[in-house]
Amino acid sequence: MPRLVVVSNRVPVPSPKGSTATAGGLAVALEAALKSHGGLWFGWSGKTSGDREIEWLEIRDFGNVTYAVADLNRRDVDEYYAGFANRALWPLCHYRLDLTDFSRKDMAGYFRVNRSFARLLAPLLRPDDLIWVHDYHLIPLAAELRHMGVKNRIGYFHHIPWPPADVLSTLPVHDTIMRGLAAYDLVGLQTDYDVENFAGCMVREGFGRALGGNWYESYGHRFQVGAFPIGIDTDIFVQMAEEGLKNPIAKRTKESLNDRDLVIGVDRLDYSKGIGQRIEAFSRFIEMSPSAKGHVTFLQITPKSRSEVPEYADMQKEIAELTGRVNGQLGDVDWVPIRYVNKTVSRAALAGLYRIARAGLVTPLRDGMNLVAKEFVAAQDPNDPGVLVLSRFAGAAREMDGALIVNPYDTEATANAIGRAISMPVEARRERYNSMMPKLREHDVAAWCRSYLDVLSQATEPQSEGLRA
Ligand code: G6P
Repeated sequence: MPRLVVVSNRVPVPSPKGSTATAGGLAVALEAALKSHGGLWFGWSGKTSGDREIEWLEIRDFGNVTYAVADLNRRDVDEYYAGFANRALWPLCHYRLDLTDFSRKDMAGYFRVNRSFARLLAPLLRPDDLIWVHDYHLIPLAAELRHMGVKNRIGYFHHIPWPPADVLSTLPVHDTIMRGLAAYDLVGLQTDYDVENFAGCMVREGFGRALGGNWYESYGHRFQVGAFPIGIDTDIFVQMAEEGLKNPIAKRTKESLNDRDLVIGVDRLDYSKGIGQRIEAFSRFIEMSPSAKGHVTFLQITPKSRSEVPEYADMQKEIAELTGRVNGQLGDVDWVPIRYVNKTVSRAALAGLYRIARAGLVTPLRDGMNLVAKEFVAAQDPNDPGVLVLSRFAGAAREMDGALIVNPYDTEATANAIGRAISMPVEARRERYNSMMPKLREHDVAAWCRSYLDVLSQATEPQSEGLRA
């Protein structure tokens, strides 16, 4: 079995005792895959160190997994991470042309950092390593490695949505981005819809041609494109939720509710998550349902994110003001409709909070998959499950047929769905829960890892040798 090399912008380096304290399901699954193959995890340390150029790596071994991370300097972070990745690619992939800020300086920084990463990574590679690159920060990495003579199989997984050709082509350097992707052996996307969009960008824009099956040819290279919907660590999350009521935060929350129904939303503070629209919908629901006034509490947990990017700082202010206005208008001396929490809450506490919630609101305006949707369902009590209200624009909506699917731009309809979720009889709730759980168990994050790596590693089988000739 070849060694696995995972490359991602952020690397969850374990603490010296060997545990990745805050690791989510994805990190845990990748770590498991790395352990079973033996592996290397490479990327940014998350630290900004003065003006020093990226020229050295911190390398640490934990069992048979090596972590190699590099600090970035201020300019790199500004141009590569906060700039091109998060002010151009992120809004573009989330269909937010109004927020896309393209700057040639940032673009140059993005390619510069990818080149530096390739320069640092190349000497660590062995000829039969399987390389798996994650997310939009690192699209040009394979092309840079290829320039340095790296011939290994290299796969890319895009965790966020892939936009249609007309959206992508607004980016002045979209051809370079497509060319960068063509240097991989496998481009993995979240859903069939993303694959369709990607094929549209490739073929309609004249960057490549479809060869049949999942194969494409572009810039003289043949590669595969496929949908690999990401899952969660279902069994672990179910277990965490079963123990969740013992969690002090979940316990305190339950006590503080005084038998009121809890509606919950958990998202990074990001404009793609539709938090403002959700608050409007909840407020509309309260206005429409006099019996809910004083009896339903909406808890929105929103850790701050990417605050150095101006659009995120603006949003922070907007959501805080909106929450204050709704609470002021609808609240009472003994009841606050929205509890808005701007901090990170542990996964164990979240599991407990999901379990005590009557409804979970996952209403992004656009999302690659959305794992909160899956974790919310996995956390429910099978005998008395809560209901998921899910945006049709989340990748998860394509799998989670037991959710109440909403259009988050439609305030009235989302408000109605919240009402329906809260008053749904237990039999209907169980039916919905039971229709989703088997799929969540079968398509968990380990299955996702396996299915992706099988395709990436088997692409050299005889059938594809012919194509590659
Ligand atoms: C999304 C992206 C990830 C990213 C995460 C947190 O889920 O797909 O690649 O790591 O957001 O964002 P941050 O900018 O804090 O890494």
